[in-house]
Amino acid sequence: MRRGFLRDAIETRSYYERVMDMIRTVNEMQAALSAMRRSGRRVALVPTMGALHEGHAALMRRAREQGAAAVVSIYVNPTQFGPHEDFKQYPRDLGADEQLCNREKVEVVFAPSDDEMYPGDGGSAHAAATWVEETTLSRRFEGERRPGHFRGVCTVVAKLFHIVQPDLAIFGQKDYQQLKVVQRMVRDLRFPIEIFFAPTVREPDGLALSSRNARLSTAERAQAAVLSKALRVAYDLFTEGEQSAHRLEAAMQRTVSLAPVARLDYAQIADGETLEPVANVQHGSVALIAAHVGKVRLIDNAIL
Ligand code: PAF
Repeated sequence: MRRGFLRDAIETRSYYERVMDMIRTVNEMQAALSAMRRSGRRVALVPTMGALHEGHAALMRRAREQGAAAVVSIYVNPTQFGPHEDFKQYPRDLGADEQLCNREKVEVVFAPSDDEMYPGDGGSAHAAATWVEETTLSRRFEGERRPGHFRGVCTVVAKLFHIVQPDLAIFGQKDYQQLKVVQRMVRDLRFPIEIFFAPTVREPDGLALSSRNARLSTAERAQAAVLSKALRVAYDLFTEGEQSAHRLEAAMQRTVSLAPVARLDYAQIADGETLEPVANVQHGSVALIAAHVGKVRLIDNAIL
């Protein structure tokens, strides 16, 4: 471990002035955690896959608003990607990530290797023998299109919860289904962790910030805001009194069809808690959308 956190916290006790630590192993993380606990602050985990942007920064700020010391995990988790998905192309830039975490006064960056997260699995995380799976909220939408995705997410998030033992964890609303699945897992497995979420951060044209946006070509980027436009159309119709989920969904589909590079995957209204499709839209229903823009698959949502 880089000299820093433990030395500052234990020897000089200048915990609040120290530099951020970059930690690579579970043992180091647990040693840092003991030191953090001695400082008396609550610990917040912000789980990420890196390629950090202002959406992630908002999650880090949410941790600080809670008065917690922030641990940001950076790990591109292989098991939540399907065999034909973009694991290899997923953007990675640890240097830039470190800078953003420093700027946001994060205490610890935890960037483990595959061996640390999936030990003894013969070099392949996919060969793991132990999994965590939520089987209800995971069934539809992303779970249906990306078999095994939420099993990978729940497994890695459960591991991170065990390793970091945070008091709270912060997730983005942009991955609404993931947020609900994690909340359910926390409830079912009785993790003593409070789950917070931070609203989606958007570009001026409405496009939700996502690490995958970096993979859009200029022409694709110009049309990628069609997802948020479709959500806006649904939102406006609902606030004008339209309660038919079918009509909101049709309006979203029409909006996406106006962007030639976008191929709609789903545009659906669901119950905000159960994620079951609804016929009548109510306050708290959620509009969920996913589309391929060129080769990049984007998701977004709006709580109605
Ligand atoms: O939302 C993400 O970036 C990932 O799914 C998460 C929660 C870090 C698990 O790998």
